[in-house]
Amino acid sequence: MMTYAGSNDLDAYWMPFTSNRRFKANPRMLSGAKDMHYVTTEGRQILDGTAGLWCVNAGHSRPRIVEAIRRQAGELDYAPSFNLGHPIAFQFAARVSALMPFDLKKIFFTGSGSESADTALKIALAYQRARGQGTRTRLIGRERGYHGVGFGGISVGGIVRNRMAFGTLLTGVDHLPHTHDLARNGFSKGQPEQGADFADALERLVALHDASTIAAVIVEPVAGSTGVLVPPQGYLQRLRSICDKHGILLIFDEVITGFGRLGSTFAAERFGVRPDIICMAKGLTNAAVPMGAVAVSDTIYDTLMEAADAPIELFHGFTYSGHPLGCAAGIATLDTYAEEGLFQRAADLEPYWQEAMHSLADARHVIDVRNLGLIGGIELEPRPGKPTERASEVFAAAFDQGVMIRVTGDIIALSPPLIIEKGHIDQIVETLRRVLASVD
Ligand SMILES: Cc1ncc(COP(=O)(O)O)c(C=O)c1O
Repeated sequence: MMTYAGSNDLDAYWMPFTSNRRFKANPRMLSGAKDMHYVTTEGRQILDGTAGLWCVNAGHSRPRIVEAIRRQAGELDYAPSFNLGHPIAFQFAARVSALMPFDLKKIFFTGSGSESADTALKIALAYQRARGQGTRTRLIGRERGYHGVGFGGISVGGIVRNRMAFGTLLTGVDHLPHTHDLARNGFSKGQPEQGADFADALERLVALHDASTIAAVIVEPVAGSTGVLVPPQGYLQRLRSICDKHGILLIFDEVITGFGRLGSTFAAERFGVRPDIICMAKGLTNAAVPMGAVAVSDTIYDTLMEAADAPIELFHGFTYSGHPLGCAAGIATLDTYAEEGLFQRAADLEPYWQEAMHSLADARHVIDVRNLGLIGGIELEPRPGKPTERASEVFAAAFDQGVMIRVTGDIIALSPPLIIEKGHIDQIVETLRRVLASVD
């Protein structure tokens, strides 16, 4: 048997977004995964209630994806994308482009969601300049927004702990208010009724800064990382129309909402709102190889091509942009989604999922339940004076009882693989009810 606590085996790895000290005292290790389940180093099966980190939308270790990565690694392991091409990157871009809604048909590849967010912000600034609006340098994010951990992403993001230790961040950034409103919208099924007016805060920022200084607004259509904040009915539409009125670009960060999470390919389609730029990652490759992408409108691409004053039109890119393994995994992932009809499957399961989530409304400690697509948020009353502690214990107890959930603050966030069966949904709900009853 392997022992971890106190051994040197755990010392070297500085774990991300983790209490290293706590983890290393009591490690929980995953060593395998198949379909809906992880396997721990002790051989226990854990039902994956969160698709890893909102990313393994087709379930784990799917044969087609595994095989594509194997094949690609033996054929072309790596090729640079600066001034040279390799066919599979063009093939994958064409496949992604074909899936994109509206006119968002040009695809820039990145290595992660954070890189996608920073890339989208940079493209927005470069576009405004290219169309002769170079005074538009201000970026608008939102409270409780999460756009990864690059300096652009944390600047427009709205999570204090992700920002406070890291200096002054980008200058010229402002934030919209978040849309979470328990008093008016508690226990909403699907989109809350109240709160389209939160979008009007953009008019106030325009009045404060003047539209001629604002390049873009970036939001997650459904905010995930800060605990499942579903947009109120009409909110995103109103944001779009205010952006249109003032020549401001609208960026949707669809890193978690893309690829079927809401029962549609992208949230933009579900809400019927056309953003100018979409950020992707995670489900793009089913997380089997790290990869992200940014889709931009033809207008943005054409403007940057035409206005270029140097042979290179955009001075931006990554060593791993269009990585062959990512492209191979991505094509196999899109094939898997299509063959198994997984986006439709998510849509079909949504009513069952919604009722299952809301059946926890009367469970102990629960002060709100919210849902959309195959996303669920269950908000717990924080322990007096000890925020996040109760949820951490719920996470640990659920894991020990065979279900992986995610907690953020005192909110449980669920986002299972789209291959989930009704029996698995029942297991998640029954485990949570039991755990909530047992944790003080
Ligand atoms: C909306 C959103 N944007 C960006 C990111 C960052 O992605 P990554 O961790 O791949 O950099 C995430 C990750 O959870 C996300 O949810």
